[in-house]
Amino acid sequence: MGDAPGNPLAGSNAFVGVAGFFTLRTVTWDDGRVRMIDQTALPNRFSYVVYTTPEQVASAIRTMVVRGAPAIGVAAAMGLALAARRSRATDLPGLVRDLEKSAAMLRSTRPTAVNLFWGIDRVLAKARASTSAKRAKEDVESEVKRMEDEDVATNRKLGGVGADLIRDGDTVLTQCNAGSLATVGYGTALGVIRAAVEQGKLVKVLVPETRPALQGARLTAFELARDGIPCTLIPDTAVGYMMSLGRVDRVVVGADRITRDGYVFNKIGTYQEAVLARRHGIPFHPAAPRSTFDLERAHDQVTIEERGAEEVVQIRGRRIAPKGVPVSNPAFDMTPPELVTSMITERGLVVPPFEETIAASMA
Ligand code: MRU
Repeated sequence: MGDAPGNPLAGSNAFVGVAGFFTLRTVTWDDGRVRMIDQTALPNRFSYVVYTTPEQVASAIRTMVVRGAPAIGVAAAMGLALAARRSRATDLPGLVRDLEKSAAMLRSTRPTAVNLFWGIDRVLAKARASTSAKRAKEDVESEVKRMEDEDVATNRKLGGVGADLIRDGDTVLTQCNAGSLATVGYGTALGVIRAAVEQGKLVKVLVPETRPALQGARLTAFELARDGIPCTLIPDTAVGYMMSLGRVDRVVVGADRITRDGYVFNKIGTYQEAVLARRHGIPFHPAAPRSTFDLERAHDQVTIEERGAEEVVQIRGRRIAPKGVPVSNPAFDMTPPELVTSMITERGLVVPPFEETIAASMA
């Protein structure tokens, strides 16, 4: 892996696209190479990394160089496209076997976001349906390019659906980073906010720092500041107090997996936002594409990733807790359907009773 030379955007307006918004792609297929924004270095350094092997992509997912459910789905798919390029198999069954090996490695990186498995399965299905190894390699590459473009288009659509809920002058509380950086581009929860701003509304965003990996402070605040969307960073512990002061009009978060029974898995801290929102009569919405819905599983069949203790006992490399203290570090939590007002998707708003409406709208 290697950094792109310096920061091509330093001091420039290059983040800002036609609509005035952050339009750089978080992950992109570049003719046999996967290019990603290195999210571990943000907000202090903007750089790209370039990968040529599926092992490098798996490591990037595990170490959160790329993170966010839709982004890791597309990244894993591209990891498989790299495996296809590198395979020496001359017949289709041989190529599929090589892809399955890399798929197993990519599947083991992070367990909670269903998009990861969706991305891998989509590429495997494409390869299996091909007629020759040569043809399969071409098909896999066109499929990942299609997935990359589809992601941005889907988020724009979803953003438009959610934007209609936002009133001029609203303050929206989010969690983690469900923005451009968590997707190929535009974002899900932040896509809703971007679309509302595009409709001419003034929207303010309350951004919890999102301990321990600080995606709110490092990534969401970075994106919103770049786009000139007013935001205020708060400690995670201030969420309830802000609501009690009447400073939150609506909660919009992303999701890593929404099960067929309507449970929402998202970054740790989301559940407490949902509970507090109900206490204060504030609407709570997950925003997620079809690829985040898991129609095969119920909530008790999902694995919540447990990450390393070092994320909790250190802040960016500096120890803040005594040595040997026991640590629990669940990366995600689960919000039950009764706390959800409606779900924002590219297929429209999904409303209760979720067990029925998810099946009907996501079939
Ligand atoms: O651990 P992360 O940073 O991958 O977690 C990301 C989140 O929880 C996001 O809210 C979720 O993936 C939705 S992203 C559009």
